[in-house]
Amino acid sequence: PSGHLLDQRARPLHDLRISVTDRCNFRCAYCMPKDVFSKDYPYLPHQALLSFEEITRLARLFTAHGVRKLRLTGGEPLLRKDLDRLIAQLAALRTPEGDALDITLTTNGSLLRRKALQLKKAGLKRVTVSLDGLDDAIFRSMNDVDFPVADVLDGIDAAREAGLSDIKVNMVVKRSTNVDQILPMARHFRGSGVTLRFIEYMDVGATNGWCMDEVLPSAEVVKLLHAEMPLVQLEPTSLGETAKRWGYAGADGKHDASLGEIGVISSVTQAFCGDCSRARLSTEGRLYLCLFADKGWDLRQLLRTDADDATISNAIAHIWGQRTDRYSELRASLPAESAQGRKRVEMSYIGG
Ligand code: GTP
Ligand code: 5AD
Ligand code: SF4
Ligand code: SF4
Repeated sequence: PSGHLLDQRARPLHDLRISVTDRCNFRCAYCMPKDVFSKDYPYLPHQALLSFEEITRLARLFTAHGVRKLRLTGGEPLLRKDLDRLIAQLAALRTPEGDALDITLTTNGSLLRRKALQLKKAGLKRVTVSLDGLDDAIFRSMNDVDFPVADVLDGIDAAREAGLSDIKVNMVVKRSTNVDQILPMARHFRGSGVTLRFIEYMDVGATNGWCMDEVLPSAEVVKLLHAEMPLVQLEPTSLGETAKRWGYAGADGKHDASLGEIGVISSVTQAFCGDCSRARLSTEGRLYLCLFADKGWDLRQLLRTDADDATISNAIAHIWGQRTDRYSELRASLPAESAQGRKRVEMSYIGG
């Protein structure tokens, strides 16, 4: 089978997000709060993780079903030993048309200085770094392991020096925590070649104690920025994109490409489920059809019971074919208790 796999809402399967570890060296309160993710937390044992060979085999089968973009996530993906070996294997895959895949990575940046060059050499094309503020005290308390901003910025420089392109920075905005970092972050990255994206704080997982009061709607972020640095709306670059793009305007009021652009990811106030083409593969090989899914489909069991390619490929087609997920669209209409009380997987397990 080649491409054209559609779910129940006629959405194609285009992106596969692969979580390579459920561990992280940060403890961001919105993702892995310290009191839950303590040293007693039951992280997955090594044999539970998909091996690089298992991941690559699945990625190959997904490619035959239309996947063109692979994103490695975690936890913190750079904590997975020898990750460059996995990247090299994935970089060798080809689409039915004979092209390489778009391979990227979402990281907290802490290990980029050490690893950017070897990742690039292995075939990584681009990278997205999470950074929630420029103020060192605020950032140290948000990552909750006292990690300094300067080292993340240095990681971003390392990525650039290594030749990774299309570098993005993701900033999760929480009303009580880092709203005053929005403008400094924008000023810092404007014109730097790095695209800054603001993410609405989401109710993923069951441990972060999410509440709507903490969400600053993206429209307000745009308003705040526009008042100081005029913005113009840009066209989407691809179907099913998470971010709405805004370009910095020059003196003529038109987008000045040399100033770059920002993005806003508004999963809470403006859901983008309508053309969501993303599947997520958990660290232990479960396939999740939505960031907010309460259950995944066990592909590892197929891999480890010697199923042949056709069997696994058919299973993938069947799973995607019956997909109806659109949680962010439904969130607004769910009674608060039922939205909050829902069983959900943690972001660190399923990958952002
Ligand atoms: P690009 O191709 O570089 O634009 O990447 P991306 O936006 O697909 O990936 P990235 O990991 O940078 O996503 C940014 C953030 O958007 C994630 O960390 C999540 O917080 C959020 N996000 C990504 N995909 C989804 C999704 O399918 N649903 C929801 N609700 N949020 C998502
Ligand atoms: N809401 C929004 N974004 C989140 N991320 C992690 N948890 C949340 C949440 N609750 C972001 C991280 C990173 C990406 C992997 O997901 O900051 O950019
Ligand atoms: Fe780690 Fe990223 Fe989660 Fe923070 S948001 S705890 S850096 S995986
Ligand atoms: Fe896709 Fe689920 Fe996110 Fe909607 S909430 S965009 S269906 S992952």
